[in-house]
Amino acid sequence: MTRFGIIGGGLMGHGIAVALAQAGHGAGVFDNDPAVLAGLGDRVGSALARSGTPRARVAAVGDRIVAVDSLAELAKQADVVIEAVSERLAVKHDVLAALEPHLPPDVPVWTNTSVLSISAVARAMLHPQRLVGVHWWNPPYLIPLVEIAPGTDTDPGFVDHAHTLIAELGKTTVRLHRDVPGFIGNRLQFALVREALQLLADGVCEPETIDTVVRAGVGLRWAAVGPMENADYIGLDLTRAILGSLAPSLSTETHEFPVLDRLLAQEHAGRASGRGLLDWRPGRAEEVAARLEAGIRHNLPARRGGRAGHGGSH
Ligand code: NAI
Repeated sequence: MTRFGIIGGGLMGHGIAVALAQAGHGAGVFDNDPAVLAGLGDRVGSALARSGTPRARVAAVGDRIVAVDSLAELAKQADVVIEAVSERLAVKHDVLAALEPHLPPDVPVWTNTSVLSISAVARAMLHPQRLVGVHWWNPPYLIPLVEIAPGTDTDPGFVDHAHTLIAELGKTTVRLHRDVPGFIGNRLQFALVREALQLLADGVCEPETIDTVVRAGVGLRWAAVGPMENADYIGLDLTRAILGSLAPSLSTETHEFPVLDRLLAQEHAGRASGRGLLDWRPGRAEEVAARLEAGIRHNLPARRGGRAGHGGSH
């Protein structure tokens, strides 16, 4: 059993704790918002109920997750620390600077940043060699993928250690050769989002249509056959020809996203404000959360026997 210390008990922090506890590990969770810490038990309980944990095991698994009330306390008990605080570089720097005086230099620190450079996160650290980018996907107890990346100063031994521990959880681990913002998954995902926003800005279709095309077409294909395998499958000559004629008309925008800016100026920020690209009528958020988990679960049995890619892309 490894004892993890998780900083940040929000969406990802509590979900990662559940994934670890299901595999028999312990997790001490610290958050600087007392309301988040007070609600941790309930949030873990409802994740466990949804996660497929057999009812007889729920209490034992839940008991492996405890709230801790300071970084010093967290550091005292942790074999590995996971940073899962808000996605702001300054916040991550403050947390790591406050943590390190309490933590022996050989204890690994993993950051769950989505799109920040690991080297930039490490910049505030006394011992940057111990920081590894370990990027989980939401919900962490369901989605198999975990991406692992070093920063410029990361000692490869810490990367190997993270890779081994995550693979032992039964996760699909991929290992990047070097640090790039967004790992692989978010770079691919947001290249698609950028193109979708361009289609909307150009008046090609409605937001709902983008989702239909992905859910009924592209997404189904990619859940079964990845884009690289598909490129070979259709032939690299055809792939080359398609890119040659299509690439000049694809978005290369880096700053202007008028569709989003217009909605944000009207305070239509999506789910939380009731309107965004779509209309968030009451009940839609719950329906989406349930559909997301059910959809992932539905695709998981196909992976059985394969447990694809322990060892991944390195
Ligand atoms: P969240 O907002 O749900 O949770 C962040 C938590 O950090 C909050 O509970 C907040 O109180 C706490 N926090 C903020 N400052 C703190 C401090 N100084 N000390 C202790 N706790 C502090 O955010 P979420 O979604 O859990 O994201 C956490 C990290 O995981 C971010 O870096 C995010 O980019 C990344 N991530 C998010 C994913 C998602 O789907 N939401 C997926 C993968 C990574």
